[in-house]
Amino acid sequence: MEKLAIFFMLYLVAMSRVHCEGTPKDPESVEKWFENLPNLKEKLTKFHFFFHDIGTGKNPTAVNVAQTNTSLQSPTFFGLVRVADDALRVASTPESKIIGRAEGIYAADSLEERGMLMTLNFVFTGEAYNGSSLSILGHNPIDHKYREIAVVGGSGVFRLARGIATVSNVWYNVTTQYYVMKYHVVVLHY
Ligand SMILES: *[C@@H]1O[C@H](CO)[C@@H](O)[C@H](O)[C@H]1NC(C)=O
Ligand SMILES: *[C@@H]1O[C@H](CO)[C@@H](O)[C@H](O)[C@H]1NC(C)=O
Ligand SMILES: *[C@@H]1O[C@H](CO)[C@@H](O)[C@H](O)[C@H]1NC(C)=O
Repeated sequence: MEKLAIFFMLYLVAMSRVHCEGTPKDPESVEKWFENLPNLKEKLTKFHFFFHDIGTGKNPTAVNVAQTNTSLQSPTFFGLVRVADDALRVASTPESKIIGRAEGIYAADSLEERGMLMTLNFVFTGEAYNGSSLSILGHNPIDHKYREIAVVGGSGVFRLARGIATVSNVWYNVTTQYYVMKYHVVVLHY
């Protein structure tokens, strides 16, 4: 019994070290992680960052990849598809520290209002979640004060994650097509 307790303590120490050094990604470690799932407790993590989307200039981070003849005349840009590799920063200012990238596709899919289908991965590179990612999928009516986008999964420390990203506009410049949104993420994971 005592041996078992010591073994279990050592195991916990080992697991917490693994957590610090990044989650091992080889197939055996992933299998072990799943087998150990009954011993893990689900936890709630909340954090926020600023999403910097730049559509023009020398180094755009979001580019149009497809559109119909009428997309740019449409008041809702209906049919416009963009690929993004946008910086996720700690603040709304252009030079603030980068903690990850939003990589993926978004598309204007609404006839009635300006709305986007968001299909993006948040790929984290900051100290906190380095090497982990969150995947989002949802409806983003960009003129609403708050938009809820589903967090449908993740990797690394965010394995089996689910939650909500609440999005709001912070500032934008139409000339440079520089848009900054705040993403407040609440996520359940292990
Ligand atoms: C789009 O524009 C092209 C070139 O002007 C034209 O050939 C095509 O028929 C247009 N398509 C539609 C759906 O209007
Ligand atoms: C994130 O991980 C990469 C690869 O393991 C490493 O090169 C980089 O220094 C790490 N960044 C931070 C901020 O810890
Ligand atoms: C938008 O950016 C342009 C080009 O940098 C600048 O001249 C203009 O003042 C900016 N507009 C606002 C409202 O900040």
